[in-house]
Amino acid sequence: MPRLAVLGHPVGHSRSPAMHSAALAELGMGDEWRYEAIDVAPEAFGVRVREMLREGFAGANVTVPHKGAAIGVADELSETAREIGAVNTLVFADGEIRADNTDAAGLLAALPASAAGKRALVLGAGGAARAIVWALVREGAEVAVWNRTELRSQHLCEELGGGPTTDPDQASYDLIVNSTSVGLAGEDPFDELPLRPEGFSTAQTVVDMVYGDAPTVLLRAAEAAGATVVDGIEVLVQQGALSLELWTGREAPVEAMRAAARR
Ligand code: ATR
Repeated sequence: MPRLAVLGHPVGHSRSPAMHSAALAELGMGDEWRYEAIDVAPEAFGVRVREMLREGFAGANVTVPHKGAAIGVADELSETAREIGAVNTLVFADGEIRADNTDAAGLLAALPASAAGKRALVLGAGGAARAIVWALVREGAEVAVWNRTELRSQHLCEELGGGPTTDPDQASYDLIVNSTSVGLAGEDPFDELPLRPEGFSTAQTVVDMVYGDAPTVLLRAAEAAGATVVDGIEVLVQQGALSLELWTGREAPVEAMRAAARR
């Protein structure tokens, strides 16, 4: 039986098992393939991944805090993962560990329209921001990066492109992506981020990578102002769909994955 998993620490809250199990069932592979959550501590990560290769795993998703460490376990690293500096997908094939990153393409797929030629503002300069900035720059957007700690946005832009900004003009962007963790612990995004709730417009697309059971304060304000909104679950679904295609070679049943991830 080919096995799949998500590796994280903690990983109990992950929606990936439900989402991928629904996908496998929809593809008629549910009896044959299995997707599970595996909690692995950082110090055990490398050894565990090598074991998985021997145990007949076909692939894995990698999530917090292992995305950087996964680079070091790969026998073969995609150019995307190398440039972003993070891995979210492992493929076990021919006795080898191949590592890739579908977070970047997943973000682009979640957008309602191409970001090419658009003015984009990315908030944050952590791990999540790296894939987003890389994707948007590659797509041909004009990218500005704001971060609470200015030095981090400067470094990120030196490495991946885009330009740091300390005082973004909210109205001037076609696309605004929150990749900070603000909102996760109930913080008010309009206290912590350089945005005003009444500063969104109908011409804008607003993405919040933070998600929970209800729409975030940020997305509710953006939607109330008439902006197009994309939540972190949609990005999760799209990156998962691309991972599933790498493992199975089948077209991912995105609608079934979305329904399961939102359940
Ligand atoms: P991830 O891998 O999810 O991106 P991370 O690398 O810890 O996580 O990055 C968290 C991001 O959220 C950072 O950009 C962080 O800003 P700093 O670099 O200044 O720490 C941002 N962040 C977290 N809490 C924040 C807050 N209260 N206000 C503004 N930004 C915040």
